[in-house]
Amino acid sequence: MADAASEIEQLREALRHHLYLYHVLDKPEIADAEYDVLYRRLTELEADNPELVAPDSPTQRVGQPASELFAPVKHRERLFSLDNVESTEALTAWEERLERQLGEKPSGYMCELKIDGLAVSLTYTDGSLTKAATRGDGTTGEDITANARTIGAVPLVLRGEAPSVMEVRGEIYMPLPEFERLNKDQEASGQALYANARNTAAGSVRQKDPAVTASRRLSIWVYQVGFIEGGPELTRHSEIAAWLRELGFPFNPASEAVADLKGVIDYVNAAEKARHARDYETDGVVIKADVLAEQREAGFTAKSPRWAVAYKFPPEERTTVLADIRINVGRTGAATPYAVLEPVIVGGVTVTTATLHNADEVARKDLRVGDTVTVRRAGDVIPEVVGPVLALRKGRPRRWKMPETCPFSGHPIVRDGAVAYCTGGFDCPGRLREYLAHFAGRDGMDIEGLGYKTVDLLLTEKLISDPADLFTLRAGDLLGREGWGEVSTGNLIGAIAAAKDQPLERLLRALGIPLVGGTVASTLARRFRSMDKIMSSPEDELDAIDGIGPELVASVQVWAGDAENRALIAKLQRAGVRTEDPEPEGVDSTVLAGVTIVLTGTMRSMSREEARNAVEDRGGKVTSSVSSKTTAVAVGESPGSKATRAEELGRPILDEEAFHDLLENGPGELLE
Ligand code: IVH
Repeated sequence: MADAASEIEQLREALRHHLYLYHVLDKPEIADAEYDVLYRRLTELEADNPELVAPDSPTQRVGQPASELFAPVKHRERLFSLDNVESTEALTAWEERLERQLGEKPSGYMCELKIDGLAVSLTYTDGSLTKAATRGDGTTGEDITANARTIGAVPLVLRGEAPSVMEVRGEIYMPLPEFERLNKDQEASGQALYANARNTAAGSVRQKDPAVTASRRLSIWVYQVGFIEGGPELTRHSEIAAWLRELGFPFNPASEAVADLKGVIDYVNAAEKARHARDYETDGVVIKADVLAEQREAGFTAKSPRWAVAYKFPPEERTTVLADIRINVGRTGAATPYAVLEPVIVGGVTVTTATLHNADEVARKDLRVGDTVTVRRAGDVIPEVVGPVLALRKGRPRRWKMPETCPFSGHPIVRDGAVAYCTGGFDCPGRLREYLAHFAGRDGMDIEGLGYKTVDLLLTEKLISDPADLFTLRAGDLLGREGWGEVSTGNLIGAIAAAKDQPLERLLRALGIPLVGGTVASTLARRFRSMDKIMSSPEDELDAIDGIGPELVASVQVWAGDAENRALIAKLQRAGVRTEDPEPEGVDSTVLAGVTIVLTGTMRSMSREEARNAVEDRGGKVTSSVSSKTTAVAVGESPGSKATRAEELGRPILDEEAFHDLLENGPGELLE
């Protein structure tokens, strides 16, 4: 027993040491497989001696109580954000302001990479991780302790002498190789790809099951100490960095203390050059006055420290060859040209295609197949072809024209304004595929597990030829095909059956009526509560609805007048799909009459969609931008610029509780 206890302790020490070498010093001494051997041995010993299992054992990263997950956490000290600069001129102006405040230039700067991830706060009590929380609005975040524990780079216990309480801030991120691995898996299973590593990291931390977070292999760079009790007397941020490393925190080794602004500018230039050679995304450089006394002297504005600033990298541009221009027929039948590019890495992501929007756009940019073109990607933004590099144009490449017939269906392509359409309707396999994927997708009927891959199977096996056919699929149609066992088949058939009962709003979105997006679908569903009524409503009735302009009226009417669409609705009804919404119960549909609400941030108690429905069910209106006509702005966690705008315009701001009060009791004096 004593032997087991001491072996367990030795193994834990060894595993912690190797994690430290790997994550903090970036100098692993053993291979992953050797680490796994030690880890497995510890797991075995702990299984045989359950009384020796301790929560801070390296084996206990997953499986700790997750009951507090996402509960609000009030930060002991506010987590500030940073002002941005985008040029050396603005950076110089920042230093000049700082110099005026301090009476002299700062004595040195610390330059750090700005990590594009998710800001978190980690609290250690007597050297053990006791709380991890998201930044939230800077004052209150969400408890993510159970999920943060699963991240190997987050120390569970600190090395050496730790202060009695200390809070460390940092950025959780998803390493790019991990992001690519995840997307390969998504692709292989026919599911939608994740857009970027940042959002995927945030989504991974927001999982209800810590085992899912663990499977995502996230990492962290810490960059700041918050609240602290005890600890050594240090005078510079760069000394704090070294001390954090000693305690076992990964403080990015790419950080550098420099003497003056010239040093900062050199660092920024080098960091930007090396930007895509790293295996994590950076969106700039954070520059901090290094001397802590100077930081205290400079202080904070309402939003950010005066002693630090973020230099944001410009959107990245690369050149590559435009190998072809092809068209894609979308779910509405619109034929959209897109660029086929020789693969090029832009902003950390390999780009092989980019939409060209429409034929006019291709002509305006004068893009020709074979041209060397500039491709741009800024942050989350989808890649864009900026234009040809004319100096590199060889010979006289041909101009591109929209084909006269659809490459998928052979039907004529006709133009309506800027948009070209395939006239083949559901006979066009290109359109049908997009239509079905959208119909079943997250913005449509939300049928889990019905992505492109399954759509392709259903189409090639001729099991369906329109969306209504989905609802008469039987288990026997799929069972026994490759990848379709009892469980997966049962899940899909179950998900399809459940989708029959989706609210009318979802059906409306799923149907892909041109111009009908989420807001319009919700308005129409609320006003008519029935598909048949929408289809037969006269022009003036539609026109009278707030938020429905003449173009939309025309679009809905053209769609409703189309025989193919009418047949589809009838077929959906026969298959048992609900096309009507019940009247809401127990809700006073006039309590918010005359009230206009803007929603921003994430509410804890309801989704954005639910909040909007709640307002609309009570006769109120939800708009997307704040104006003098806004009754109030309801603010959840991490509110956007709308909250600031509300302050500027002097419009009332409601927190979540006040918003519920409004729903319950009406606007009261808000309307005066
Ligand atoms: S320092 C008081 N350092 O950028 C100092 N922030 O808008 C506040 N970030 O919310 C932050 N890398 O999430 C700092 N090396 C770094 C950073 C960093 C990324 C994020 C952080 C913060 C945002 C600032």
